[in-house]
Amino acid sequence: MNICVTGTGYVGLVTGTCLAEVGHRVICMDHDGNKIQTLNAGQMPIYEPHLEELVRRNREKGRLSFTTDFGLANRDAEVVFICVGTPPLENGEADLSAVENVVREVASRSDSYRLVVEKSTVPVQTGEYVSRTLQIYCRGGQGHFDVASNPEFLREGSAVYDFFHPDRIVVGVDSPRAENILRELYRPILEGQFSCPVHSSCPASSPPTFLVTDVKSAELIKHASNSFLAMKISFVNAVADLCEKVGADVEKVARGMGLDVRIGKDFLRAGLGFGGFCFPKDLQAFVRIAEKIGYDFSLLREVEKINKGRIEVALEKLKKELWILQGKTIGVLGLAFKPQTDDTRFAPALELIRRLQREGAKIRAYDPKAAQKTAEEIPDIFFAASPYQAAEGTEALILATEWPEFRDLDWKKIRGSMVHPFIFDGRNFLDPAQLRAAGFRYEGMGRPG
Ligand SMILES: NC(=O)c1ccc[n+]([C@@H]2O[C@H](COP(=O)([O-])OP(=O)(O)OC[C@H]3O[C@@H](n4cnc5c(N)ncnc54)[C@H](O)[C@@H]3O)[C@@H](O)[C@H]2O)c1
Repeated sequence: MNICVTGTGYVGLVTGTCLAEVGHRVICMDHDGNKIQTLNAGQMPIYEPHLEELVRRNREKGRLSFTTDFGLANRDAEVVFICVGTPPLENGEADLSAVENVVREVASRSDSYRLVVEKSTVPVQTGEYVSRTLQIYCRGGQGHFDVASNPEFLREGSAVYDFFHPDRIVVGVDSPRAENILRELYRPILEGQFSCPVHSSCPASSPPTFLVTDVKSAELIKHASNSFLAMKISFVNAVADLCEKVGADVEKVARGMGLDVRIGKDFLRAGLGFGGFCFPKDLQAFVRIAEKIGYDFSLLREVEKINKGRIEVALEKLKKELWILQGKTIGVLGLAFKPQTDDTRFAPALELIRRLQREGAKIRAYDPKAAQKTAEEIPDIFFAASPYQAAEGTEALILATEWPEFRDLDWKKIRGSMVHPFIFDGRNFLDPAQLRAAGFRYEGMGRPG
């Protein structure tokens, strides 16, 4: 099948590359010339495990290419995926201007049938606007478009794995033709007809559910899923604050809760809260679209408030230990919003650093992948070459992102290089007993002192 992917970011690049890997011919388009140039030079604009190898292989096989020219990408495509960004506007609503731009291009440049697929996360009813825009701007008479919603559930850091092993593939469609095309497109995944780029032999699992709904329900599934997961995180963070007040341990409470299959153990990690390009903005956008339709989603406003409050909780802990932050040197381990990615968008680590800098603290930071992206946002940081260098001469060391390599550091060596051996574990990732034995003062989130 010939596929055009518009927007070659985390979602577009992964989707386009993996669709090429299962045999489709894919042209990924982006209006960012530097990004396309980087990809055409054989380099990667983002870090995502396994992706580089897949891009190289599929370019060599001639199934995957990159362009800034929408006309070229769209010319022979049967399916056009919209994977452009939908960032938050100041009022929290999703900015859909990039989506509209792409839709107008498709409308005015297509003279035969196209299935236009929303993969970007968009508020419910966007599909109606997409259909209407296609009809208004189309050049070849009406009726040769279908619009579908195919929300993306990939997790950065395991995006390639998630493409090949999804829990479910959701397609919101209004016509049998659109459903058939998407079923055909995903057939290799649904039938396990691919050679997995992640495992040499995949663990046995049942095939993913192919869930067909109407367009509006599919749009809602995405916002509702992300908001629900965000709610779990804020819930456990509220419980963490309660634990601190009574001297209980949130790790034990979360384990006890998570063993109940109705609750599940995932997304019950107390800490600095959620960040990234999805949860914070999707939550806001969901609240705003609900408001517009006439429903006050106050539950989700509280989820957002609790999450924003995590940075205050962290600052209080640092002030309690260090008293005055002005002039103090603080080390930060981990900058990306989560491990295994270089994505720093809405990363709690960066928000915390900004607040510390505003109080006059000096920052030394280390991240295995995200230093460059952080430097583009906050230049005034000393970027260390290792966790050890980040800790040198500091009065506190913050663990802000739980990269696995931070678990087994030489803590005695780190302690010896710090001015004051205080660890604030913003992810409850380290072993408090081990750190205390190594001579540190340790503070986590919702763990007894
Ligand atoms: N990143 C994730 O983990 C994730 C997961 C699920 C869904 N989503 C959703 O997918 C969408 C894309 O997210 P992302 O993380 O890939 O964003 P991104 O910023 O990494 O990529 C978006 C790309 O679109 C390009 N673009 C913007 N306007 C364009 C236009 N008019 N024509 C061509 N290209 C254009 C940008 O240059 C950029 O490269 C968002 O709606 C996001 O909420 C993201």
